[in-house]
Amino acid sequence: MSIIVGIETSCDETGVSVVENGTRVLSNVVASQIDVHRVFGGVVPEIASRMHTEVISQLMQQALSDAGLEPTNNTAPVDAIAATFGPGLMGSLLVGLSFGRALACAWQIPFLPVHHIEGHLFSAFLGESKPEFPYLALVVSGGHTQIIQCDAPHQYQILASTRDDAVGECFDKVARLLGLPYPGGPSIQKAAETGNSAAFRFPCGLATKDTLDFSYSGLKTAVLYMLRDHPEASVPDVAASFQRAAVDALIMKTALAIEQSGVRRLVIAGGVAANKCLRESAASLDAELFLPPFVYCLDNGAMIAAAAHSRMQHHCALPHDTPAAASIPLVVV
Ligand SMILES: Nc1ncnc2c1ncn2[C@@H]1O[C@H](COP(=O)(O)OP(=O)(O)OP(=O)(O)O)[C@@H](O)[C@H]1O
Ligand SMILES: [Mg+2]
Repeated sequence: MSIIVGIETSCDETGVSVVENGTRVLSNVVASQIDVHRVFGGVVPEIASRMHTEVISQLMQQALSDAGLEPTNNTAPVDAIAATFGPGLMGSLLVGLSFGRALACAWQIPFLPVHHIEGHLFSAFLGESKPEFPYLALVVSGGHTQIIQCDAPHQYQILASTRDDAVGECFDKVARLLGLPYPGGPSIQKAAETGNSAAFRFPCGLATKDTLDFSYSGLKTAVLYMLRDHPEASVPDVAASFQRAAVDALIMKTALAIEQSGVRRLVIAGGVAANKCLRESAASLDAELFLPPFVYCLDNGAMIAAAAHSRMQHHCALPHDTPAAASIPLVVV
């Protein structure tokens, strides 16, 4: 049995979680900074790192105590500590990484750096049913839109990426155009509930079969021009039509990736995987679907602990002194 505490501080959520054997979450605490950043319409990096520093020690104590674990006489209550080393905001990454590394050193237990996107992939292993290999993963978040083929544990091929904006970033930018609060994904989903998704036709980026890659900047610009020409347009109708176009592009490329690869298991992970329209539309794909529970779609420490457990199990843990990296592709680790 192994108990790992996972720390996630790559952006604006401080997450600490205790996970048993990579799948059973014993505790999961997340301090979201959304209310603070909302005033600025997006994440302010300097504020984000300071806020991680303020709460991380308290969150660690709470996660351990929620899991029924207490350090006694300086003995470690867990077997290892894992933390995100990148990609993300450098100042924010350094808080979780340094805190985790120092604690692991004091408790004399292994410290495991984890790639944030590998963490998102492992959120699928925190649900009821777990994917077998090979599987495809559609990673849709604030900074990534990728289709990844996972052939074996920790062996990845990136089949598709976005050529410009990430889909979550596009939700955030379009919400801003519509005067909806940050973060844009949940705001647009809510506004779309009462809107007509056929009210406007927005383009699907790179809508050809020649490439699996995504493009979201054209969709954002199309909404901008439509609002300039029709300022009276109903916000719910625009939100619903935009959401339909954004999700259709994901579904179209994922269907193509399933067809081309012949891999018929699909994980959807990352913040946008919480989107109801995407979850419902994905049911039409010709693949067995693995969706993380809602709570593990957004950034959290449990997915980091799960990824670290698997790396330990497969003897491919990253070096404990792996430096923080603001931008690093999954395939190099
Ligand atoms: N229900 C939803 N519908 C659509 N988008 C959503 C929903 N909930 C959250 N999002 C989007 O998910 C994104 C946040 O996801 P996440 O926290 O995984 O991103 P990140 O960690 O900032 O980026 P990355 O994981 O690429 O480093 C935001 O862009 C947000 O708008
Ligand atoms: Mg993320």
